[in-house]
Amino acid sequence: MDQMKAPLFDALIRHINRSTGNFHVPGHKQGQAFDDAGKKWFASVLQLDLTEVGELDDLHHPQGAILEAQQLASAAFRAEHTLFLVGGTTAGILATILHLCRPGEEIIIQRNCHQSVFHGCMMAGAKQRYLPCEFDQNGMEIPISPDTVQQMIRQYPQAKGVVITSPSYFGVVQNVREIAEICHAHQIPLVVDEAHGAHFGFHPRLPLSAIDQGADVSIQSTHKLLTSMTMSSMLHAQGERVNIADIMRWLRMIESSSPSYPLMASLDLARRWIATKGKEELERLLIALDHFRGNIKNGSFIHEVSVLSPHDPLKLTLVADPGVSGYAMADWLNKQGIYAELADHRKVLFVFSPGTTESELSRLEQVLRRLDREISHFPKEPSFNLPSFSIHTQAKVEFDELRRRKRRWIPLASAAGEIVTEMITPYPPGIPLVLPGEELREEVLHFLCDVIRRGGNVRGIRSSDTPAVEVLL
Ligand SMILES: Cc1ncc(COP(=O)(O)O)c(C=O)c1O
Repeated sequence: MDQMKAPLFDALIRHINRSTGNFHVPGHKQGQAFDDAGKKWFASVLQLDLTEVGELDDLHHPQGAILEAQQLASAAFRAEHTLFLVGGTTAGILATILHLCRPGEEIIIQRNCHQSVFHGCMMAGAKQRYLPCEFDQNGMEIPISPDTVQQMIRQYPQAKGVVITSPSYFGVVQNVREIAEICHAHQIPLVVDEAHGAHFGFHPRLPLSAIDQGADVSIQSTHKLLTSMTMSSMLHAQGERVNIADIMRWLRMIESSSPSYPLMASLDLARRWIATKGKEELERLLIALDHFRGNIKNGSFIHEVSVLSPHDPLKLTLVADPGVSGYAMADWLNKQGIYAELADHRKVLFVFSPGTTESELSRLEQVLRRLDREISHFPKEPSFNLPSFSIHTQAKVEFDELRRRKRRWIPLASAAGEIVTEMITPYPPGIPLVLPGEELREEVLHFLCDVIRRGGNVRGIRSSDTPAVEVLL
């Protein structure tokens, strides 16, 4: 297939050139009615913000330009089917779990997966069975052993699917090939949340993609590590263990019936970009990053701060003395105008992409040099560790019943042992520590209080002077 083509983007431009009368939604009429101050910034995108008219096709029943754009994406990402998503990877994960599980059926998932996997299970009424998860001393995930997956499948042979995250936010990659082989030996589909791996497989120094390694479904946030607009993702699928038509049916229920053309066209263009220029752009970036990492390691300056880069070279994590949290480092960096992707209790994560320039890297190098000098003067606080993720904790009250029960808000500090009604999730990274219907363990409570006190953001907690949590009455 000719990867130089961009059928959806081209259809949009043809439409703009041909149209002499816009008598359809959206009401801004390609930017003619819009806030004066905003116009200057939004003008070019508003021109493209059209709807299902003329030859612009329909995401939910694609037959023309969108179908062709998705087929080009399947070829580029070496999948059998590709669906464009306008609700992020979240939408693809929800639709896939709803496709796999009917109420009461089992699904094997990582306990430390993204909240969207839990949301999918809640919506499907599926029973979660957890793969154990382990972390090193910096809170970095340790890949799941394929033997563990084997044991879980033996224990839960009726499971309708296995869902794993690869890579993790910090760039840790799972052994997808072996896990896929184990799943397939039992006729169980493997779904990979590959939100952070849309660039995989496009350069020999990058890990292979999940689809290349045999996953049945992989959902990628094209907007995260590739070049499409925020909220645009792709779902790739292959083989007979999943039914793409059924996944599409669920997507029609989950996603808007008015999907955004700027988002979809940006997926078309992101695919053209990675398929035609990706390797050379990634090569340039990887050389620049080698240089940058070499300067940090060989140069005389990084003493106090360690630099971790697990499997994905486009991620870089800083860790300092356990008494200095990631929040404190990120706060200091923000004051220098440097904004990292996320900070947690121990680390700060930087994300690079071919959009990263050499001059930005050399500025980062200078700032890290200063951070390394100044960090020894940061106030030291008692270190705090990620609580264990109990894989045996089952909800004490099922989600369905929970919604009907009376609730009350109480101060977080006095909530140990209470049954929480909402998912409690430090965000980012968006991995829930407590699920609705579970008891709030003392260890988790202390961790949450520490995160909030040090400036972290926790969803599911009402923050004010006294953080509060909703529990069952
Ligand atoms: C591991 C993981 N999976 C899924 C998602 C959801 O992706 P999206 O924001 O594209 O919906 C995220 C978002 O941060 C994530 O980190």
